Amino acid sequence: MNSFDIQHQGFTDHFAKANPQFLKSIFGTDDLMPLWIADMDFQVAPTITKELQRLVDRSIFAYEFNAREVFKAIANWNHKRHGLSLNPKSFIQVSGVLTGIGLLIRELSDEGDGIMVQTPVYHQFFKIIKTANREVVANPLKIVDGKYEMDFDDIEQKFSSKKVKAMILCNPHNPVGRVWNREELKTLVQLANTYNVTIISDEIHSDIIYSGTNFNSIVSIDLENHIAVIGSPAKTFGMQSISNGYLYIPNNDKHQKVKHTIESLYLDHGNAFSTFATLTAYTKGGEWLDELLAYLEKTKNWIQSFVSKELPQIAIHDPEGTYQMWMDFSGLQLSEEKLKELIFKKAKLGLTPGEWFGSGHTQYMRINIASPLSKIQKAFRQLKSAVNEGI
Ligand SMILES: Cc1ncc(COP(=O)(O)O)c(C=O)c1O
Repeated sequence: MNSFDIQHQGFTDHFAKANPQFLKSIFGTDDLMPLWIADMDFQVAPTITKELQRLVDRSIFAYEFNAREVFKAIANWNHKRHGLSLNPKSFIQVSGVLTGIGLLIRELSDEGDGIMVQTPVYHQFFKIIKTANREVVANPLKIVDGKYEMDFDDIEQKFSSKKVKAMILCNPHNPVGRVWNREELKTLVQLANTYNVTIISDEIHSDIIYSGTNFNSIVSIDLENHIAVIGSPAKTFGMQSISNGYLYIPNNDKHQKVKHTIESLYLDHGNAFSTFATLTAYTKGGEWLDELLAYLEKTKNWIQSFVSKELPQIAIHDPEGTYQMWMDFSGLQLSEEKLKELIFKKAKLGLTPGEWFGSGHTQYMRINIASPLSKIQKAFRQLKSAVNEGI
C-alpha cells in the first residue's frame, strides 16, 4: 500500500479544514467531507518527521537563525527541478507567503493605488489588497477553447490608466490550475515594463506540476523589475503550519528597501523547526515529491475519466499544476442556492464556493484532490448519486 493511500483519522478537529465550527459557518453543516482549504491529507515525508524528531530529542531551542543555508537549498532545488538559476543572496525570509505579499504591496504602492489580480483567483488576495487600503483591479481571465488565458488587451488598458502600481500574479494559478508558459510571461512582463508596474509573482504552487508542463518563474523572464515569492515548502511538502515564505528580489534597490523594512520589524527571525524542516525538505525530499506527483496525477486522471463518463453535465478544467481542480457546474442549470444545497447537503461535499475567487463564479467550485484516492472516489460517487437524484 502506498503511504498516500492511508486515511488518517483522529485529531482532525484541530485542522482548520475539518473544524466543525468552520464547516458550519461556511457550509451550514459539519456533516460533509471537507475538500476545501488547499492543504494535504497526507503525512509529510518521513525524512522531515525524522528531522523534527531530532530537534525534539535535542531539546535545546536557543537562538538559531540560519536562513542562508535555506536560501542555498531553495536555489539548488529550483535549479535541479526547474532549471532556474537563482542567487541565494537575493532571497529574504518572511514568516509566510501572504505576509510577504502584504508587505510588498505596502512597499511598492501607496494607499489608494490599484493592485491587479487575475480573477477567478485565490481569495486572500482580495483581503490583502483591501486591508492595505489599496484598490483591487480585476483582470478577468478568459476561456479560449476551454482553457483559461490571460486577457492582454484588458491588462494593457488597465495598466495604462497609471492607477495600477503592482500586480499579484498567481503562477501556478489557484484555482484554475494554469502554469503560465514562457510566451505568456514574456508578453506580461513587456506590458508591465512599459507601464512601470511591478509583478509580485506568487509561486507557492511551483512544485506541483503535472507531466507535459514546465514551470517558469517570473524572474527567469526578467531579473531586474519583478519579484517572485518562491521557495515556500508549504504546498510542496504539506508544511502549511510550519513553513516560512521567501521573497526573491534581484533588483538591488528594491531588495535593500524591502530588507530594511523586514529587518526593522524583525520579521526575518526564524523558528528552528521551520528552518530545519525546510532544509531537509529541499535537500532530501525530492524522491517523496516525485511519488506525490505521480499519486496526484493518477488521482486527477481518475477524476477526469469518471466525470467524463458518469457526470458529463460537469466540466472540470484539467490543471497543469496545483492540487486544486476548478469545477464548472453550470451544465446542471441550478440556481446558486440549489447548487449549494446539492453539493453541501446532498452530496455532502465541502468544496470551496466559486464566488470566493471573484464575482461571477457562482456556478463554479474548487475541489482539493490531495487526499487518498479512495476518499476522492467516494466523494465523486456521492456527487454522482446526488446529481442523479436531483434537487
Ligand atoms: C496562491 C497562494 N498563495 C499563498 C497561500 C498561503 O501561503 P502562506 O500560508 O504561506 O501565507 C496559498 C494557500 O492556499 C495560496 O494558494
